[in-house]
Amino acid sequence: MPFPAERPRRLRATPALRSLSAQEHLAPQRLVLPVFVKEGLREPSPMQSMPGVVQHTMTSVVDAAQEAVAAGVGGIMVFGVPAVRDARGSGADDPEGVLNTALRVLDEAVGSDCVVMADLCLDEFTDHGHCGVLDEAGRVDNDATLERYAAMALAQAEAGASLLGLSGMMDGQTGVVRSALDAVGRSDVVLLAYAAKYASAFYGPFREAVESTLQGDRRAYQMDPGNRREALREVRLDVAEGADVVMVKPALPYLDVLSDVAAAVDVPVWAYQVSGEYAMVEAAAAAGMIDRQRAILESLVSVQRAGATATLTYWATEVADLLRRG
Ligand code: PBG
Repeated sequence: MPFPAERPRRLRATPALRSLSAQEHLAPQRLVLPVFVKEGLREPSPMQSMPGVVQHTMTSVVDAAQEAVAAGVGGIMVFGVPAVRDARGSGADDPEGVLNTALRVLDEAVGSDCVVMADLCLDEFTDHGHCGVLDEAGRVDNDATLERYAAMALAQAEAGASLLGLSGMMDGQTGVVRSALDAVGRSDVVLLAYAAKYASAFYGPFREAVESTLQGDRRAYQMDPGNRREALREVRLDVAEGADVVMVKPALPYLDVLSDVAAAVDVPVWAYQVSGEYAMVEAAAAAGMIDRQRAILESLVSVQRAGATATLTYWATEVADLLRRG
């Protein structure tokens, strides 16, 4: 026997061989672009914490969505930044609220070319910045919040969202929203449960994006970063309650969780490459410390390798463009 008997390097010799033996390929249609629409904004407004990402006007968000579609992106996840907030997050289920208006406009513009998704959570709409309504002691009241989520779901479905992203981490949210939709004949609306959403420092830049006024933190409802097995419990509950897709969030720091979840369920598993993951690469690249493009592609293929069938990423349009141009 010649030594070494096996030579894995043989398949790495040329780009064509590498590509033919690649176990993962990124694809535009597996990417989802999150967008922020701000009420009353006249010009798109750049964000310091996320260079290259803007808060959109009702007009510029349509341009961004059309660009994403032209690049082959599979969906857009819409977040609203309201001009006025209150304790119960009234803007969230107001048909004329910024998010519902944006959903209507986007559904009309690109609804037949990509999946228009709505973030279903109260944090952008409450003046205290929590993902739900508070009880007298100032704690997030799970069951009172569920009623608000049901109302939001109906408003978002009515506005034209075909998928609702349940990101609030309230117990029972998937079941309550599913029942509310089914009761009005909207069994067609897809539910994406942010089943395993961790209380993460990597959401930092997002808070600027939505001008969050959060008092305190979200550790009483989002998951503890050390908890791996608990993700399977959350996922089991969401699937039992009717989740069509489950999400792991953040992405790169939680690849073990993603891999566990993908092995445990038979519904699609998506990942959210969050604002802090984006900001880290952008900052390192701007400082000349990292090859920006390679880092972006590597992080995305890693998330896919761990088990995600789709990834929400602020780089969606850029990466989709890049992939299409080869
Ligand atoms: C809640 C929500 C958050 C993000 C998406 N949906 C913020 C949070 O839970 O604190 C974070 C996304 C990101 O950081 O890119 N509506």
